Amino acid sequence: MNLILMGLPGAGKGTQAQKINEKYNIPHISTGDMFRLAIKEGTQLGLKAKEYMDQGELVPDEVTVGIVKERLSKDDCNNGFLLDGFPRTIAQAEALEQILAEMDQTIDSVIHVNVPEAKLVERLTGRRICPTCGTAYHVEFNPPKVEGICDKDGSQLIQRDDDKVETVKNRLSVNIKQTQPLLDFYENRGYLVNINGDQEIDDVFSDIQSFLEK
Ligand code: AP5
Ligand code: ZN
Repeated sequence: MNLILMGLPGAGKGTQAQKINEKYNIPHISTGDMFRLAIKEGTQLGLKAKEYMDQGELVPDEVTVGIVKERLSKDDCNNGFLLDGFPRTIAQAEALEQILAEMDQTIDSVIHVNVPEAKLVERLTGRRICPTCGTAYHVEFNPPKVEGICDKDGSQLIQRDDDKVETVKNRLSVNIKQTQPLLDFYENRGYLVNINGDQEIDDVFSDIQSFLEK
C-alpha cells in the first residue's frame, strides 16, 4: 500500500499514521518528524528547516522533496509507505509523481482527514508530545495515564515550539491556502478519500480501516 495522509495541522495525521503503521506495518514517513529530528541533531538541514517552522511557514520545496526522495529510496519502502504531511504543495505533488515513476510505483490512495478549522486551534495548543518516542497526546482529548508523562517510556512530555498560539494561527492560514488545490489535484486523479476526522480517535481509525480493507 502506497498511501498519503493529508489534513490541516492538528487534523490527526500523526495520530492515525501511528495506528496505521502498527496495524499494517508500513513505514510512516513524516516530513515534520524528519525536520524535528534534524533540528534536535543540529544538522544543516535542521538549521534551515527551523527558520521556517518557527514562523509556521513551509520549508522550501527543493529541501523537502530532497529528503523525501532519499527516504523513499530505502529498502523498507519497497512494500509500501505512508506519507504524512507530504506533499503539501502542487510542486511537491508533481515531484512525488516523478520520483515514484522512477521507482516504477504509483500512489494507491490519498486519505484526507477532514476536521473543521474551528476545532484545530484547541487541538494544537493542547497537544503534548513525547521527545523520546514521538507519541502525541492531548491535555483534554487524549491525556496520558499520568499527567505530563509518556505512557510508553515514562518521558516528560513537552510542547512543540510551533504549537504556541502565535505560530499556530499562521501555520493554519498557510496550510489552508495550499490545501484545496492539492485536494483538487488528487480528486482529479481519482485517489482522494475523505475521512471524517471530527470524531473519537478510534472511530477515525475504524473508518480508515474500513476503507483500506474494502
Ligand atoms: P508537521 O509536523 O507535519 O505538522 P502539521 O501538518 O502542522 O501537522 P501536525 O503534526 O501539527 O498535526 P497532525 O495532523 O499530525 O495532528 P496530531 O495527530 O498530532 O509539520 C510541521 C512543520 O514542518 C510545518 O509547519 C512546516 O514548516 C514543516 N513541514 C512539514 N512538512 C512539510 C512539507 N511537506 N513542505 C514544507 N514544509 C513542511 O493531533 C493533534 C492533536 O489533536 C494531538 O494532541 C492529538 O492527541 C489530538 N487529536 C488527534 N486526533 C484527535 C481526535 N480525533 N479527536 C480529538 N483530538 C485528537
Ligand atoms: Zn514516549
